[in-house]
Amino acid sequence: MDLDNYFPTVDDTATWLEEKVSIKPTVAVVLSGGLDPFVDDIDDRVEISYKDIPNFPSPKAEGHAGKLIFGKYEGKDLVVMQGRFHYYEGHAPHVIVFPYFVLAKLGVKYLLTTNAVGGVNKNFKPGDVMMVTDHINSMGMNPLRGIAVQRKTEQFTSLTNAYDAELQKLSRTVSAKIGLEVKEGVYAATPGPSYETKAEVAALRDMGADAVGMSTVPSVIAANFLNMRVLTYSCIANPAADLHSGKMTHKEVLDAMNALAPKVVRLLQEVVKELK
Ligand code: HPA
Repeated sequence: MDLDNYFPTVDDTATWLEEKVSIKPTVAVVLSGGLDPFVDDIDDRVEISYKDIPNFPSPKAEGHAGKLIFGKYEGKDLVVMQGRFHYYEGHAPHVIVFPYFVLAKLGVKYLLTTNAVGGVNKNFKPGDVMMVTDHINSMGMNPLRGIAVQRKTEQFTSLTNAYDAELQKLSRTVSAKIGLEVKEGVYAATPGPSYETKAEVAALRDMGADAVGMSTVPSVIAANFLNMRVLTYSCIANPAADLHSGKMTHKEVLDAMNALAPKVVRLLQEVVKELK
């Protein structure tokens, strides 16, 4: 995808989708691998593989299906991203965030995202859910590089409310209502695909991180540029490197995500219901 022609390409892809699907989503839910059961309760589903969508790249990570699913939940139009694009797959930064530009063009106002993380906070354990209150971008890149300059005004995106304070409040009300304990903390993003060293995790902890992962931050930066309101849940899949005994594996992460799915899916459903 041509960076110089970014916005026209976004428009073309959005138009293609609008011609195919009558659902007009205002809410987008990005599912981390393992959280697929969220899709089961969506009505009137229209599923489109990323590989069939003009200008969309293909995800390569194991456990990520790679489709957009349009439908309704409790009468509300939404779109689900099942699988997403990661920096560690080799995609250029502007390619990773392309879908969010398309979703904004389709009318999406709320971005609910989920991810798998290593627990950096010593009080967190695998199986915990953490609502993200802020992030530390340790990826060494910014996905708006080369994109934001194409907009004549407001090239410099504010991230002071990156994770929307009102949505965090709503989430606290919802989790109290359903009796689910949800931790809160700061998400640090590293580029991957290697997990962190023990020293890196200790440094991230000193910087204020509570969890570490390899996704989410590019999408949240793009969403803020696009004036979407963001709510993010991190699933603590493993203790981060310096709290981990032995070798870290992707299988451990996938197993933990499958086990966590019921409570995260419930939380997402209850939040979607409450969105205006
Ligand atoms: N580090 C980075 N990304 C991750 C981890 C981790 O420990 N667990 C799941 N995704």
